[in-house]
Amino acid sequence: MGGGVPASSHVPVMLEEVVQALAVQPGGRYVDCTLGGGGHARQILEHSDPGGQLLGIDADPRAIETTGNILQDYRGSVLLVNDNFANLQAICLKHDFFPVHGILFDLGLSSLQLDADKRGFSFQYDAPLDMRFSPEQKLTAADIVNDYPEAELSRVIRKYSEEILCRQIARRIVQERPVKTTLQLAGIIEKAVGGRKAKIHPATRTFQALRIAVNQELDHLESALKQAVGLLGFEGRLVVIAYHSLEDRIVKQFLQQEARGCICPPHTPVCICGHQPRMRIINKHVIVPSPDEVRHNPRSRSARLRAAERIAVTEDCPDTDDEIDFLAAMRNNGWRRPALLRKIKVAFATA
Ligand SMILES: C[S@@+](CC[C@H](N)C(=O)[O-])C[C@H]1O[C@@H](n2cnc3c(N)ncnc32)[C@H](O)[C@@H]1O
Repeated sequence: MGGGVPASSHVPVMLEEVVQALAVQPGGRYVDCTLGGGGHARQILEHSDPGGQLLGIDADPRAIETTGNILQDYRGSVLLVNDNFANLQAICLKHDFFPVHGILFDLGLSSLQLDADKRGFSFQYDAPLDMRFSPEQKLTAADIVNDYPEAELSRVIRKYSEEILCRQIARRIVQERPVKTTLQLAGIIEKAVGGRKAKIHPATRTFQALRIAVNQELDHLESALKQAVGLLGFEGRLVVIAYHSLEDRIVKQFLQQEARGCICPPHTPVCICGHQPRMRIINKHVIVPSPDEVRHNPRSRSARLRAAERIAVTEDCPDTDDEIDFLAAMRNNGWRRPALLRKIKVAFATA
């Protein structure tokens, strides 16, 4: 294998559950914010036929290129955009793609990236410490590992992996600089923690932390979730699959907040926040892959799916000029189905 060529294809996680949670319907309009190998996208297109439309986004230009070829059969129904989902609203506005019936986030990285031997995501291959989803990003894992002061490096490892041995690991990394490759880094971490004791490799958590920091994954997720709600039409679905507790916590808290009415501090005598619920949580308990799926695709084992539905609110009052333009555009574009168009007009009537 060479040139970053993947060893395997990506097996999409919880395919049936995703289609069900998105309530995919013929003629529907969907955004796949994490196109990857296109497994979910293809399933959405199949279930939304005839007339379905899919906007697929990925920060990784290689995912867009490879999956563009795979989805050739759906030409005319698919638009693929190489961008960060942190720009979700701008992307949908630019392409007149709103309101939508469903938005999917299948977070993290794909097997195509994990198994690419030159991209530095995995310590299964010796590669430069890169870990960027997009080559346009400036910061690489090597920059963090070699340039951050020890305390900052330790903080990053702790914050993005909850690794309790972060200080020991950071100290050892700083002693052994320059650190150039994945295998060198994995070896340093192994020495820092005193060898392999648990089932998972001791470098697993630190590699996760570096990847999250390089790609600012948690910040982008928080920003994109907020934008997603505004793009959903009435009864539109938001579905998120997270792979570790840090991102799952963000999703869970975000949906809980969006589903709540008053968010004033406890014991506030009279509501002063005026907060209105905008979403209804669909699955009270997180959905996980079946034991059968985990047996066939062990990489699915940590997946956690959460879904929520947009509900009508009369208080969708815009604050800024951008929001006024956006809501006006939202009203004019409408659904192609008259009943839904009426509902969305009611939902945004006060804008
Ligand atoms: C788990 S994979 C998605 C797999 C896909 N659902 C499938 O069925 O093949 C995650 C994908 O999201 C992309 N990604 C991660 N963070 C992103 C972001 N902030 N913006 C755009 N794409 C992102 C990664 O490049 C990767 O291709």
